[in-house]
Amino acid sequence: MTFNPLKEKGISLDKQIRSWYKIVKRPFDKHKVDCYTRTRQILMNGIEVEAWNFKHAFARFCPDADVCKTIAEIRRIEDTQQTTVNWMTPAEQSVLETTLGYEQVAVDLTAWLAQNEPDEYVKETFDFGLLEDFDHLYRYSQWAYMIHGIDPNDIVQHQTDILVSRPTQNHHNDNKIRLRKHYDRKIASPQTKVNILTLVSGEQQTHNFYAEHGMMYGNDDLRRTYGEICDVEEEHVSMYESLIDPEETMYEKLLLHEFTEVCTYYNCYKDEQDEQLKIIWEEFLAFELEHLRIASDLIKKHEKRDPEEIIGNEIIEPCHFESQKEYVANILINEVDKRLDGTDDKSYTTIDKLSDNWPSYEVQEKFGEDGAPTEKTIQLITTATGRDIVFGASKLIKKQSELIERGLEEIAQAPDTVSADDYKDMESLDIVEL
Ligand SMILES: [Fe+2]
Ligand SMILES: [Fe+2]
Ligand SMILES: [Fe+2]
Ligand SMILES: [Fe+2]
Repeated sequence: MTFNPLKEKGISLDKQIRSWYKIVKRPFDKHKVDCYTRTRQILMNGIEVEAWNFKHAFARFCPDADVCKTIAEIRRIEDTQQTTVNWMTPAEQSVLETTLGYEQVAVDLTAWLAQNEPDEYVKETFDFGLLEDFDHLYRYSQWAYMIHGIDPNDIVQHQTDILVSRPTQNHHNDNKIRLRKHYDRKIASPQTKVNILTLVSGEQQTHNFYAEHGMMYGNDDLRRTYGEICDVEEEHVSMYESLIDPEETMYEKLLLHEFTEVCTYYNCYKDEQDEQLKIIWEEFLAFELEHLRIASDLIKKHEKRDPEEIIGNEIIEPCHFESQKEYVANILINEVDKRLDGTDDKSYTTIDKLSDNWPSYEVQEKFGEDGAPTEKTIQLITTATGRDIVFGASKLIKKQSELIERGLEEIAQAPDTVSADDYKDMESLDIVEL
């Protein structure tokens, strides 16, 4: 039996107001929680923040008082959902531990979306961003080790590798050239629309988390590292949101937001093993089905449009989490030298083909005038410990170390793939002695 979100019945809005005791629940145990339960919790917080924020934007453009009242009612529910989800985070989970969770979301979610994206250009954009978040995970892992003595696998639980990728100091672009070609709302598939909205929500929340928490450490180099990576997340939000057709109406966007919430909660509910979280995903799925019904009624009434023509008649699974090591390794080895081409084509090129007047060079020079904090991170850990913390298949690490020695740019000239054999000893911990 297929699940058609437009036909399923949810919980009425008046029953969605919960007591403070139901809104604020007991947090999960950071020592016992499965890493993918944590990634779902991090992502769904981002989904709710976007759902809430978008409804404020809608209201500010909406002259219809009745619609504003409806939006206000739903928006409050989104806000209480956000509180429930985000506050499942235990107080003893440090900012850096949560940060590793955020980057694990970015890596494994983007890899999943890229493999389930029907639009080739959108997929290419996902793969491009994926490598950047993969490098953030590596840089933050060094800090988690230095500041808290944490093995990054305490958080990522061997499901995601910790390796240098396209170096963060190279992620800074002229923000104008981050802007991509948008899909055509009339022909793009619902999957593409939901995939992008899911990722935009995740990236936006990642940006906000760094912006709000990077100052909570006293170490200036770590604060600067958060500042540097926070700015890359701003570029990611700019890049991914620009894939969305700006001609979509507000009612259409409202429908897509509620549909994305239905799909993500459905996916979380289906995959969740943790009993406490599973109950939340199930209840919130029922909330969102009602939000979707209301959004459908609004677009039918105000635009005389059939919601099914926009979102289809079946569920989409935009946030299934599983280990993506092999996929990420192949993108890493084949695409680490990829760069935005900076032309009106909004395409991609490789580092060796960039001209001297590539717009991002000027930005990189200005930001990097006193050095890149993310590079200093690696100098600090090697000075302090004589080590670089990396985890992954030893063959891949060896290969990567060789490539780094030769200069990362040579990776582009040596395309190769990683075979399943390379992952045989994936569970082993590898610390590269320098
Ligand atoms: Fe919601
Ligand atoms: Fe990131
Ligand atoms: Fe990102
Ligand atoms: Fe909603």
